[in-house]
Formats: sequence, structure tokens, C-alpha cells
Amino acid sequence: MKPIIQFENVSMSFGKLEVLKSLNLSIQEGETITIIGGSGSGKSVTLKLLLGVVTPDKGRIYFEGNNIVQMKEKELVAMRKQFGVLFQGAALFDSLNVFENIAYPLYEHFKYSEQELKSIVSKKLALVGLPKSEKLMPSELSGGMKKRVGLARAIATDPKLILYDEPTTGLDPTNTQRINQLILDLKKNMKITSIVVTHDMESAFQVSDRIALLKEGKIVSVGTVEEIKNSKDRVVKDFIEGKMKGSEISAGGL
Ligand SMILES: Nc1ncnc2c1ncn2[C@@H]1O[C@H](COP(=O)(O)OP(=O)(O)O)[C@@H](O)[C@H]1O
Ligand SMILES: [Mg+2]
Repeated sequence: MKPIIQFENVSMSFGKLEVLKSLNLSIQEGETITIIGGSGSGKSVTLKLLLGVVTPDKGRIYFEGNNIVQMKEKELVAMRKQFGVLFQGAALFDSLNVFENIAYPLYEHFKYSEQELKSIVSKKLALVGLPKSEKLMPSELSGGMKKRVGLARAIATDPKLILYDEPTTGLDPTNTQRINQLILDLKKNMKITSIVVTHDMESAFQVSDRIALLKEGKIVSVGTVEEIKNSKDRVVKDFIEGKMKGSEISAGGL
């Protein structure tokens, strides 16, 4: 397997706050990797760096061998077309119905006939377990349904890579389970590369091929679910034990 993404010595500060300090991480094509870390540890910032919406102070970030840090806006736009993003709040357009919300990135990026759009939207809705809900308005959807519509929108363009920022935060156990299952299904059906950012250890164990722990601006440990579960590393053990007790509350999204 070859890396689809590489972070090399990436540092990022906001004023005096050093969020990332020479972070290194390599992500393989087709894997689901989860970045775990405490609130404010820089998980969302890491996703923003990948999208090229913020620029690091130092370091290089490669997508398929091309350094994102040096890309011009035009190249960034082309790159982002290959990404699907599920933001923390799902962020649907309230004045658009479900069909229009999901079709939005398709209108933006490519040219499809009305018939093609209908077919794509209907397939994506079926994938997220919400068939025939095209006409519903966001105000008619529960939190879990909104998240699933957000996911249908994120995959509308058949992205190569999907970024999930706290996909299960604020969801009840049934919807959490549903979203976790969808992350697994998408990997299976679409052979997608997924980067999940979460503070939810249970979800991380469930959906990941590998888990990376972000602490004090660095990836301090990375390994398979089994390796992380059985890690003897104090930092990893402390983090998992703390999380399993549910001692943390997440902060804002992207
Ligand atoms: N645009 C910004 N301006 C100033 N500080 C920011 C900005 N974005 C993030 N931060 C700070 O960077 C730190 C990491 O943020 P974030 O990546 O959102 O954390 P999390 O791991 O909870 O997602 C936080 O202390 C946050 O307040
Ligand atoms: Mg965050």
C-alpha cells in the first residue's frame, strides 16, 4: 500500500499557541485512520490543514505526492473535489430540501442531467438508510438523520477521501451505531480512504484500521486497533482509560 497523505514535520501556531509541533503522519490508500486526542489538541486543525483552508507555519503535507502547502487556489479547489467532508454539525442548508442539499456539490462540480442527479441522490440516500426522503426539509429531520444526510452529501461526488470531524458527537447510542456502521460500509463498498477525528474511543475502536493519538502537537502513537488497545505506553493507556470513563467533553467543530 502507498501513502495517499503524508504530514511531514508540520507545525502550526495561532499567535502564541503552538497547536502542532512537528507532526508526522502517513495515511495509506484505502485505510480508515482515526485521530484521537483531547479537546483542543488540534484534531480539527489537522483536517483544515489537509483541506488547505489553513496554512502551516512549517512542514509539508502531501496528497498523492503533491505538496498541499504550495498549491495555488485552483489546485486546492481541484484537490478538494476529490474529498468528502462531514463537518461536526452536518451543516445542512436549512432552506434547501434533502435532495437539493445532497445535489449541491454535484451542481457545483460537474454537469449532470436532472435524471442523473435524481439517480445519484436516490442511491446515496439508500446507502445512508434514508430512501425516498428527498422532499423533506432539514427542520423535519432528527439530529441523527441530519448527520446521515450530511454523509450522503459528503459522498455524492464519490470522493477518494472522506474526512469525518467528530461524526458521532451529540448522537444517541442508536445513531452513533448507525454512523459507525456507515463508515465501515463506505470503506467496504467504495474503497474509500477515511480520516476520522474523534474523542469517542468506542467509535475509534469500531471503525478504524489504525488509530493515531495526537498529544501536545505530535502523533505520539500510531497502530492498529489491537496494538493501541494492548499498548503498554503510559500515555496511550492513560488516554484510553480516561476516555473509557467518559471524562471528556468535546469542544467545537471545524
Ligand atoms: N482559527 C483559529 N484561531 C485561533 N485559535 C485557533 C483557531 N483554530 C483553532 N484554534 C485553537 O487551536 C487549538 C486546537 O483546536 P482544534 O483543532 O479545533 O481542537 P480539537 O482537537 O478539539 O478539534 C485550540 O486551542 C483552538 O482554540
Ligand atoms: Mg474539533
